[in-house]
Amino acid sequence: MLILGIESSCDETGVALYDSGRGLLAHALHSQIALHAEYGGVVPELASRDHVRKAVPLLRGVLDQAGVTLKELDGVAYTAGPGLVGALLVGASLGRALAFARGVPAIGVHHMEGHLLAPMLEDPAPAFPFVALLVSGGHTMLVEVRGVGRYRILGDTLDDAAGEAFDKTAKLLGLDYPGGPVLARLAQRGDPERFHFPRPMVNRPGLDFSFSGLKTFALTTFQAHGKDEQTRADIARAFQDAVVDTLVIKCRRALRQSGVMRLVIAGGVGANQALREALGDMTAGLGAELFYPRLEFCTDNGAMIAYAGACRLRAGERQDLGIAVRPRWSLEELAPLPEQA
Ligand code: KG4
Ligand code: ZN
Repeated sequence: MLILGIESSCDETGVALYDSGRGLLAHALHSQIALHAEYGGVVPELASRDHVRKAVPLLRGVLDQAGVTLKELDGVAYTAGPGLVGALLVGASLGRALAFARGVPAIGVHHMEGHLLAPMLEDPAPAFPFVALLVSGGHTMLVEVRGVGRYRILGDTLDDAAGEAFDKTAKLLGLDYPGGPVLARLAQRGDPERFHFPRPMVNRPGLDFSFSGLKTFALTTFQAHGKDEQTRADIARAFQDAVVDTLVIKCRRALRQSGVMRLVIAGGVGANQALREALGDMTAGLGAELFYPRLEFCTDNGAMIAYAGACRLRAGERQDLGIAVRPRWSLEELAPLPEQA
């Protein structure tokens, strides 16, 4: 089954072709970073307009790369939420219209289900069940995954998401948008001994997160210690160490509590090298398996949407002709797929 996937929930336009027999055939991505950089964050209206400009050229590109035509498509998957409503509508309108024109089914995919299933595109892919750490710009969640659509949220953030905390802290350190990866690079030059940031909520039972206090801690440290380059690197290091440690502690707890010895990392912050290394050490210590998508599929992409859509379309799920998107949408509302799907 050849499925076209379209992602347009935020500031990346992603298009991909996934075949349930042959695997991923092609994928292409356009990042809007340069467009939003001068505003220090994503401007929703500019994001929507840019998706309009880029979606069709990217689609042509993946068809060429894979050497297939629209006539060969068996279905179309597009991100239906959560995300920016105008941006979502661009991908949804294109996807729904293409499916209608070709007479094939369409499916609206949950963006976080896409992230959660992205490691399934790798070899080896994780087997079910697994615990997933979803760490993106909008979400920080621990989810117990027993199959496609069989999700139980074990922990969530009470305030900022991990990526959001990275971005906000980077901004107050004067780093360019999007700050996460820039802050991570700066942290490499930081002295780990100079500042010590708290590890929020680790002494309380449970698996919820809270990251907004770290940003405030970074601000007061910054104001108290001057703004030279080394101080900024030291703050970046202390901040990153605190986030990484907190995530590792909660992941270890989630594995122990659920009894599932398989951890999957997904979402943009999953590209963070320090986090990957620390989770590698922790899972090795526990004798648990660790999986993550390749770096380019940690952040937003069309491949994960094509894959998640293919799972649901193969199980017979269909979207009606309406173009419906959902800016807010809980993972736990998704329908579970039959075991073999
Ligand atoms: O999954 P994603 O591409 O988009 C959302 O669905 O939110 O995640 C983007 C987030 C941003 O906050 C970005 O700063 C963060 O992931 N990020 C990183 C790194 N690469 C991306 N944060 C820390 N270290 C990185 N290397
Ligand atoms: Zn995302």
